[in-house]
Amino acid sequence: MLGKSGPVIGCIGYGAAGLEGYYGASDDSQGIDTIRYALSDGQTMIDTSDFYGHSHNETLVGRAIKDIRNQAFVATKFGIVHDDNESGRNLATGWGMSLKINGTPAYAGKALERSLKRLEVDEIDLWYAHYPDPGTPIEETVDAMARAVKSGKVRYLGLSNVTTEEVRRAHKIHPIAAVQYEYSLWRSEAEYDLLPVLRELGIALVAWSPLGSGFLTGTIRSDNMDRSTRQSNPRFAGNNLKTNEDRFAPFMAIAAELGVTPAQLSLAWLLHKGPDIFPIPGTRRMGRVKENRQAASIVLDEPTLRRIEELARPGLAEGAVLI
Ligand SMILES: NC(=O)c1ccc[n+]([C@@H]2O[C@H](COP(=O)([O-])OP(=O)(O)OC[C@H]3O[C@@H](n4cnc5c(N)ncnc54)[C@H](OP(=O)(O)O)[C@@H]3O)[C@@H](O)[C@H]2O)c1
Repeated sequence: MLGKSGPVIGCIGYGAAGLEGYYGASDDSQGIDTIRYALSDGQTMIDTSDFYGHSHNETLVGRAIKDIRNQAFVATKFGIVHDDNESGRNLATGWGMSLKINGTPAYAGKALERSLKRLEVDEIDLWYAHYPDPGTPIEETVDAMARAVKSGKVRYLGLSNVTTEEVRRAHKIHPIAAVQYEYSLWRSEAEYDLLPVLRELGIALVAWSPLGSGFLTGTIRSDNMDRSTRQSNPRFAGNNLKTNEDRFAPFMAIAAELGVTPAQLSLAWLLHKGPDIFPIPGTRRMGRVKENRQAASIVLDEPTLRRIEELARPGLAEGAVLI
């Protein structure tokens, strides 16, 4: 169940951002087939944003679900501005660029109409503010989002990349069903500060980049690193990737011992944290959709969980935190 009173959805969702070529080429027909396969395989929450691929990702999701709308739980986000004609406040990120953010009620209203049109739906199941706007109190942003719920254009509200204080303030304005934050074995900080507050308030944690942008699958190594968005992630940069390979070698060894893939073990570990954690792995390949979904049937015993816990402590991964 997503949040205290949310719908029952597949415990592993599907992150569609990678279909925009961030980690390698993907064409539309491959993307549509992969989304449809994910849905048929039980990954009902499809995660997109009006930012991914300059909004193309929402169009792609819309085309994929057109005749099977009721099988999908569509989650999208607004607030990162990529249109030069729209204003916004600069937000510095940890990967050497800044994002333009707009969380004003006027922009929220426009963004909603555009997302509905691109997704070709009457109602968005879960609508997130992608990042808090440094120039707009979160109460104002959420109040505008709450109006979308009242008008029947949105079912549930979410926040992404927020502090615990922002979650508390937002939740007073309107119930928040889910908070999206990076959470994985190589970025586990959310477990210590954010998750306790979410549990107190009955909010689900949707774990973005649950496979460490591919690192935790064991397939991205210093000797085969591709030229993709990963290059701007400090955890993959310079010597950090090799350092991280060495530090996570014991984790890869545990996966091999158990006869599961590192991707499956990463997702299974997250699912063992509680029924309120929803990983949304992304892949361009149907075979990997299936592999990832099978993680939901892996049962990890206490000694194995303890061995993984020892590895997952914050600070294990080399490279600055990205938000
Ligand atoms: N809220 C936010 O600010 C935010 C930020 C980032 C991401 N997200 C969301 O989180 C979703 C997932 O994040 P992500 O795509 O960045 O990272 P991810 O899911 O951690 O990793 C994706 C990478 O792992 C590879 N992969 C997936 N399954 C695999 C498997 N079984 N074996 C080997 N490799 C595998 C994919 O490659 P192939 O495609 O080649 O399989 C891709 O390179 C996004 O789609 C997006 O919806 C949200």
